[in-house]
Amino acid sequence: MRVVVIGTGYVGLVTGACLSDFGLFVTCVDIDAEKIALLKRGEIPIYEPGLKEIVEKNQKSKRLFFEVKGEKSISEANVVFLAVGTPSRDDGSAEMKYVFSAVETFSKNHKSYQVLVTKSTVPVGTGKKIEDYLSKYHSKDTFAVASNPEFLREGCAVSDFMNPDRIVIGCDDPKGLKVLLDLYEPMRKANAPIITTNRTSAELIKYASNAFLSVKISFINEMARLAEKCGADVSKIAEGMGMDKRIGKAFLLPGPGYGGSCFPKDTKALLSTANEYNCKLKVVEAAVEANEDQVNFVVEKILSNLSEKKEEAKVALLGLAFKGGTDDVRESPALKVARRLLKVGCEIKAYDPEASVNAIKEVENLVICNSAKECAEGCDVLVIATEWNEFKTLDLKEIKGVMKNAVIVDLRNLLDPFHAKEIGFKYDCIGKRI
Ligand code: UGA
Repeated sequence: MRVVVIGTGYVGLVTGACLSDFGLFVTCVDIDAEKIALLKRGEIPIYEPGLKEIVEKNQKSKRLFFEVKGEKSISEANVVFLAVGTPSRDDGSAEMKYVFSAVETFSKNHKSYQVLVTKSTVPVGTGKKIEDYLSKYHSKDTFAVASNPEFLREGCAVSDFMNPDRIVIGCDDPKGLKVLLDLYEPMRKANAPIITTNRTSAELIKYASNAFLSVKISFINEMARLAEKCGADVSKIAEGMGMDKRIGKAFLLPGPGYGGSCFPKDTKALLSTANEYNCKLKVVEAAVEANEDQVNFVVEKILSNLSEKKEEAKVALLGLAFKGGTDDVRESPALKVARRLLKVGCEIKAYDPEASVNAIKEVENLVICNSAKECAEGCDVLVIATEWNEFKTLDLKEIKGVMKNAVIVDLRNLLDPFHAKEIGFKYDCIGKRI
């Protein structure tokens, strides 16, 4: 089985590397020549635990290759995965030009029977559009267009890919379906559940899953706001709800709102699709709105913890990535908070173990520091915005010693409030009165 993956972002690179690890011959193709040159040298352009090792191993075993154009590889592949980006347009719909440019490349190099698979998240109906486009140039019995959405999370992408909760294959062509079932046979043997369905359902499963998780997060964030007002503890609420197997405990952590390259984009794209079909999705709409409100809520919280002259305050911002374990700052709540505080006039010192380089490209007025301690020095408040493990074990005594005012606003409920108070901090967090 020969496979080509077009696009070497998080989804494409992890898919290509992991499929090669399952014994397939994979070529990853990207128009970004610089990125391909890096990958050929075994350097990984993103921070993703475990990925470097797996790329190195399979490159050495001659099962994983990187190419800029990849014409020959595409023409010889049995399966071509599309894993290019589908960023949000201003109106919330997904930008499809990268997908269709990749489809054109596929079309130009297509010869014998091949399955073209959308792996990155594409709007419902994209498979049909691709099929209609290819049908203009090729006989319909020489290709199938399938949907095989990816559910991996950044930060644990390799293990998510290797141990998926499910593999979803949506293919209306029985021959194409058989090819994809053969491709995933090693993973099925390793106990990965496979669900097969029609292409449109597979496309919608992906959006429905991301939207549902977004709803869960917005729901717990709203419960956190209520808990603060009525004197309840959101962590206990989440625990108590999560013990009900029908609810489940995952994705009930309150915080500064969901970010990243997926939830904000995909919820809006789903609303845009629903709009096209004249179908109102009130629950998803509310989740998006509540998520936008959450940033206002946490900014107010930070400001209310500052003494007078908020516009002269020095803020230590711990965490810039949209979540722990990644260098990705796309739609990062930490950066939204930073922009808002800068607007008020605050000075912001920031520290993130991996995301500083990306963050400074987005918000240039940040003063980047090399450690949490350096970041805290001389500051009026320490804000924890990303749940990096190393922030859980901060030396609070040392931090207090270098701060101007001993105030912590913990937007991820990472620290032990009693320990922080014992050390002498004024401590505030999300969804509970301390
Ligand atoms: C998400 C999905 O979890 C993946 O299944 C999916 O494949 C991926 O999008 C995608 O569509 O490509 P990811 O964006 O990597 O993965 O990040 P998550 O771990 O899902 O976190 C998303 C955001 O929600 C983060 O800002 C995180 O801090 C926030 N979050 C998550 C919470 O605020 N509370 C939680 O309990 C969980």
